Amino acid sequence: MKKIIPAYLRVIVLFFIIFGLIEYFIDSGNRPAFLKFPMVNVILLVVLILLIAIEAVISAADNIVYQLLPEEEKARLAAEELKPLRESVWFKNLMKKLTKTVPIEEEGSLLLNHDYDGIKELDNNLPPWWVYSFYACIVFAAIYLVRFEILGADNQEMELKKELAQAKIEVAEYMKNAPDLMDEKSVTQLTDPADLAIGKTLFENNCAACHRADAGGQIGPNLTDDHWILGGGIKNIFHTITNGGRDGKGMISWKGTLKPKEIQKIASYIMSLKGSNPKDPKAPDGDLWVEEIAAAEAK
Ligand code: HEC
Repeated sequence: MKKIIPAYLRVIVLFFIIFGLIEYFIDSGNRPAFLKFPMVNVILLVVLILLIAIEAVISAADNIVYQLLPEEEKARLAAEELKPLRESVWFKNLMKKLTKTVPIEEEGSLLLNHDYDGIKELDNNLPPWWVYSFYACIVFAAIYLVRFEILGADNQEMELKKELAQAKIEVAEYMKNAPDLMDEKSVTQLTDPADLAIGKTLFENNCAACHRADAGGQIGPNLTDDHWILGGGIKNIFHTITNGGRDGKGMISWKGTLKPKEIQKIASYIMSLKGSNPKDPKAPDGDLWVEEIAAAEAK
């Protein structure tokens, strides 16, 4: 038989298939197996040598068989070797098997027994490639019907919904362990004195100019009383510091200047100042904020 793929290509293709299989089946974490386990390199080398050896043996055997052939057979093979692919015997046979066509000279045998004003009809075989694809479609349809309509497997919409739900869970999980990505929904109040001390320093450095070092209020409102313009509680305070106050009032957004982690510490520090009654506080601004009522309303 004529060889369609040259020997060297066969070696390369087989080698990479085996390489792929090894990488697929050996669990080597993030790094490829051949880097992690030096033994894999040895195995790959042996595989490569074996493949080359097998090719060499096959081609030698072919050669011997060829030498033993009678002259005319040799000539026939050589001629066959020279023909382009589409002319070769095996290609023609393959095409014949796939299409089951009748040669044009024998077309008369297919003629149907009618004649419409000179238009005649041939009764050609259905090409096997088409028939088998058709059977495959029927099998596919049957499996599809049972799987999705009877056993109730997920359709695309359901798959999408499940993936989105899973993604949400993963994002929430990720947010928990990545405090720098904290937002007002996930922020929690810190009570650890070390965190509050950091919050205090940050407050004194950034906020005291307007809110006073004791947070009694000056340009900005008093942050120690129970009255809040923009809402009390850790989540609202975090939101105000992150996004700023009402336009034109002077409280800027600290997003970008301070990290979410730092804003959480400052907000917790502010929460800890509640009821600290600094001297000459600014008069209360905004509405009375009662945590319990707010919590009940949120439900
Ligand atoms: C330039 C002056 C200024 C600076 C600096 C400043 N604030 Fe303010 N802050 C204000 C003003 C003015 C308001 C009132 C905003 C409004 O009425 O919308 C305010 C409002 C607030 C509120 C909401 C109070 C409420 O009643 O709802 C919080 C919380 C707050 N600031 C925290 C901070 C923190 C924390 C910092 C430092 C990181 C800071 N502020 C820096 C001027 C300032």
